[in-house]
Amino acid sequence: MKTNQSNIKKAKKYLNKNYCIGVPTETVYGLAANAYIDSAVKKIFNLKKRPKNNPLIVHYHDIDSLERDCLINDNFIKLYKKFSPGPITYVLKLKKDSKISKYVTNNQKSLAVRFPKHFLFKNLLKQLDYPLAAPSANISTKVSAVKAKDVREEFGNKIRYILDGGTCAIGIESTIINLIGKPTILRLGGLDISKIQKTLGFKLNIAVNSKKKIAPGQSRLHYSPGVPLRMNIAKPKNNEAFIIIKKRKTKLKNYFYLTTTNNLNEAAKNLYSCLRKIKNKGYRFIAVEKISNKGLGRAINDRLQRASKY
Ligand code: TXA
Ligand code: MG
Repeated sequence: MKTNQSNIKKAKKYLNKNYCIGVPTETVYGLAANAYIDSAVKKIFNLKKRPKNNPLIVHYHDIDSLERDCLINDNFIKLYKKFSPGPITYVLKLKKDSKISKYVTNNQKSLAVRFPKHFLFKNLLKQLDYPLAAPSANISTKVSAVKAKDVREEFGNKIRYILDGGTCAIGIESTIINLIGKPTILRLGGLDISKIQKTLGFKLNIAVNSKKKIAPGQSRLHYSPGVPLRMNIAKPKNNEAFIIIKKRKTKLKNYFYLTTTNNLNEAAKNLYSCLRKIKNKGYRFIAVEKISNKGLGRAINDRLQRASKY
């Protein structure tokens, strides 16, 4: 991993020319472009083959840069102080005079915003005078990218540059909370919602399977390895890749560990690489051992469930 300023300079050069580039975050890699420029934002949608009505998350360096575009409120300030930068995305009201491209939001009046923690991305944002729209760096509905080489696998030479920041520390996307009206969780993710509840002091609405589909990340077919997947399996069939989380005495080649010690943070970190690996090895079926619904286990199960709808 190269971490010097010259790579950040390169990233800046491409972004200033309105190209899309790959960027590392602590959750998953993003496909980033200037959120103020229509033509730059449109490139993101084309590259990802993303439906135009699925809005993007915009990444800011800090609260001062955010306030040019969004209205903030007390719940936001409490959560921002505690958890940002980090794996949480806030949905806020857009200001009338915000410069955000209408393509980012599909003309909606709300904006999803995040303050990433990865030191390279944070450093890059600090040097730009515009925020970056960045969805996960994968083709729409497919498995997200957690390494620079995954981003290359998704987009090949269609993107100019990837800022290589090593393997993502958390490995699954941010938790999304809508802070317009009563706080509501729209997507489970890298920040355990019990911590959010503790900070706000009340129980949150959870609408991750809402029929209204405010966040299309809530949609059923998503995060898909392109291979059918079964969950809560004790005994796999012979032709299945078996994803497990507890140490076994086995030399079987079709067993894939997310963690050997039932460590759910480690399991989250390895989830997408494991799915990618299984797919690349040519397996046609996947079975997954039962994973407890505690902490990040809940977000892992959410992703597996959506992946299983293939
Ligand atoms: O960890 C993450 O959040 C990563 C990294 C790159 O920051 N980004 C990410 O972006 O996961 P994406 O586009 O793959 O998922 C963003 C989700 C989508 O499901 C989208 O529908 C939802 O956020 N979203 C975006 N803007 C929204 C808004 N204004 N209201 C509700 N949901 C929104
Ligand atoms: Mg995504």
